Amino acid sequence: MKVLVCGGAGYIGSHTCVTLLEHGHDVVIFDNFSNSSQVVVDRIGELSGASVRFVRGDVRDQDALETLLADGVDAVIHFAALKDVSGSCQQPLVYFENNIVGTIALLHAMQSAGVKNLVFSSSATVYGEPEAVPITESAPLRATNPYGLTKLVMEQVIGELCKTDPEFSAILLRYFNPAGAHPSGHIGEDPNGAPSNLLPYVAQVAVGLRDRLDIFGNDYPTRDGTGVRDYIHVMDLADAHVKALQKLGQGGCVTLNLGAGRGHSVLEVVSAFECASGRRVPYQFVARRHGDVAEAWADPSRAEKILGWHAQYNLRRMCEDAWRWQSGHPNGYRS
Ligand code: NAD
Ligand code: WQD
Repeated sequence: MKVLVCGGAGYIGSHTCVTLLEHGHDVVIFDNFSNSSQVVVDRIGELSGASVRFVRGDVRDQDALETLLADGVDAVIHFAALKDVSGSCQQPLVYFENNIVGTIALLHAMQSAGVKNLVFSSSATVYGEPEAVPITESAPLRATNPYGLTKLVMEQVIGELCKTDPEFSAILLRYFNPAGAHPSGHIGEDPNGAPSNLLPYVAQVAVGLRDRLDIFGNDYPTRDGTGVRDYIHVMDLADAHVKALQKLGQGGCVTLNLGAGRGHSVLEVVSAFECASGRRVPYQFVARRHGDVAEAWADPSRAEKILGWHAQYNLRRMCEDAWRWQSGHPNGYRS
């Protein structure tokens, strides 16, 4: 298939592009580099040994997208979004503009060009504070921050589009907690400034860039008092996107959880990372982070049923791969 990958130079997009190219797909990456760089595109080419077409542009530029889509594109994978929860609380309009206006421009362009196959990056954030775990796709949805609202709104917009055009086919993928890196150690997660997510923070402590980890709360009603999440290897996510592409073309909108189906506490993550890296990860307990929930993990059985997909890699492997990337590139793509 010829696939337009919006946001393909980002963390999940870059790993997915390598896997797509390895499966023989023709990939066009479209990215404005607001959270990535040319180095990533070069590494995607090196790792896959395939030629990658890259176009620098913004998804809000409908004309640019229409031109690209008219060139025989079969499907779009749409990763392009701003993703920092606290950033979205500080600048909600910037997030609404980028994530919502950007996706609407993309949908317009797809409609004009007659491209009717879409895989959309959603997030477990749409579940807000879950009433029960494991979380199924039919659990109540609620946005607890502007970023989450952008995902919830776009899920609904895409769902409505599928209703009005029975030929439009969309798969909405709700990622739980992406982690890890490509096994080569040449691409990985490269946060801007201090990481807000746990795994990259732990990796930066282990490599000596930060003194210690602040663990947000040790009084949750969980097995060791720290928060429990469903960490999913980024290579497993990449595999799910390739499988999702094969299911497009039948019309309708399908929503799938992508998680491992098991939860790990913060202390378990720290311990797994220490084992994988052979380094100590000093930590201290601090107050809970506003908006955090005690525990969240997926029921991924619908993805297994529809895509034939389940997570292959465990937490230990996520930590080993994240460590290979972090230790080889302490300053991310700048080293
Ligand atoms: P990322 O920031 O690494 O990648 C996003 C890419 O999109 C970047 O390369 C960025 O430059 C690009 N981009 C952003 N806005 C753009 C625009 N207007 N036009 C063109 N390009 C633009 O993020 P990621 O972790 O790879 O996340 C990918 C998707 O998955 C996002 O939609 C995110 O909301 C979603 N998601 C991420 C997580 C996570 O924890 N990483 C969890 C759930 C869902
Ligand atoms: C995991 C656990 C923290 C950092 C976020 C977004 C969500 C999605 C994935 C995009 C929690 C604890 C963390 C630290 C800590 N992103 N923690 N010290 O909060 O589950 O989800 O990323 O869609 O929308 O909200 O992930 O990695 O931030 O936290 O103790 O320095 O680690 O309290 O228990 P979270 P996380």
